[in-house]
Amino acid sequence: MNFKNRDIISIHDFSKDELLSILKTARYMEKNPNTNLLKGKILAALFFEPSTRTRLSFISAMEQLGGEVIGFATSNITSIKKGETLWDTIKMVEAYSDVAVIRHPMEGSARLAAEASSKPVINAGDGANQHPTQTLLDLYTIQKVKGKLDNLHIGMLGDLKYGRTVHSLVTALSHFKPTFYFIAPQALQMPQTYLDELKEKKIKFYLESNLMKVSKKLDILYATRIQEERFADPIEYEKYRGIYKLDTSLLPNIKKDLKIMHPLPRVDEIDKSLDETEHAVYFEQAANGIPVRKALLALVLGKIK
Ligand code: CP
Repeated sequence: MNFKNRDIISIHDFSKDELLSILKTARYMEKNPNTNLLKGKILAALFFEPSTRTRLSFISAMEQLGGEVIGFATSNITSIKKGETLWDTIKMVEAYSDVAVIRHPMEGSARLAAEASSKPVINAGDGANQHPTQTLLDLYTIQKVKGKLDNLHIGMLGDLKYGRTVHSLVTALSHFKPTFYFIAPQALQMPQTYLDELKEKKIKFYLESNLMKVSKKLDILYATRIQEERFADPIEYEKYRGIYKLDTSLLPNIKKDLKIMHPLPRVDEIDKSLDETEHAVYFEQAANGIPVRKALLALVLGKIK
């Protein structure tokens, strides 16, 4: 399997075997954390939207592998402010770096960047569309904490309409015979296009708004934030803010080995009282961003096979 020069834009672009191969490389990276594999290589980290985990873990991964990083954490300091297009910006970045990571509010922006650049481009989140590197670290985490990816009962809770992490994750997990429980108010349910994809693949799923009706069935509960920044109308957002708040009252109603995940940042979906329970794996999940992103950088730069 050869990932050299591959763009990482959508989970739809990767087969089951390719996903498993990336996870295997991530395990190797976790066991062998400090190498100079990417010495002499430059990563451009282009963040047009706020980020803590994705940006910093990509930077840390690159630097731990001996590479260097250029880029920006807000487009306000770039020539985009003067009217330069995304296309022209990427043409410049192509000349200054070996690989680019881009987060942008526009759906399809990462695909556009990949078309503009002959160097590999990695999507770090394009609007409400996809967040494939988050999905890979989510798969890596599930494999670690459950010992498998197959035949799990997965609950996804919160803003399933605008949450890009759940969109990528549904597609990725559909390779592994899951049963899905989509727990959201009707207006924030999983988009029809993903439900159609699941129907076509004959994957079982249930739509629900009340977590307690399905909580005892779940092996994984993947909670998400209500994505305030994607609502056109702030009054609409206010209707759903705080609609799901997980706390210790959940504990009598779950399996002993349920694992609670969250891509983070959390606002008020998960109370801190759950953090010290054996169910909470969201901080471990975020930490897994390092080996997974190291693997992706090394693979697309052709430094590992
Ligand atoms: N999970 C995630 O994408 O976090 P950041 O927005 O902090 O990068």
